[in-house]
Amino acid sequence: MQTGTFALLVKDHELVKGIIEELLDTPVSARKRRQELLNTLKQELQVHENLEERLVYPALEARKSTHALTLEAYQEHHVVDLLLEELESADFQDEDWKARLRVLQENLLHHVREEEDELFPKAEKVLTKEQLQRIEQQIGQAKEA
Ligand SMILES: [Fe+2]
Repeated sequence: MQTGTFALLVKDHELVKGIIEELLDTPVSARKRRQELLNTLKQELQVHENLEERLVYPALEARKSTHALTLEAYQEHHVVDLLLEELESADFQDEDWKARLRVLQENLLHHVREEEDELFPKAEKVLTKEQLQRIEQQIGQAKEA
């Protein structure tokens, strides 16, 4: 497992990616299973987005070098939420249901890559050691609660 300030968030990313993969594997007839997995996905995403937006993004938004990227990240969360809402209200047995799910997956993968490859590494540089420790501690505490 990856260590460091954002390790638990990266773990969340893996979890969420896995749920989407599972959903993509469901046959069109598995209406109930799709609903269950979608509920799980929504719950995990909400908790995760909330953690990032509450504990990580504000400090990064305040820094010049990560400001624009952080604003983008907020918007990406927003788009993923919208796509998820649409997926929930769409007909699960419709042919384009999986197409919608794939678009959600693409958006999510883009966002996760940007965080893991750009935003988090930049955060490790621009935030103070104290800030990073505090963030790591707060994420850990939120995860335990
Ligand atoms: Fe995120």
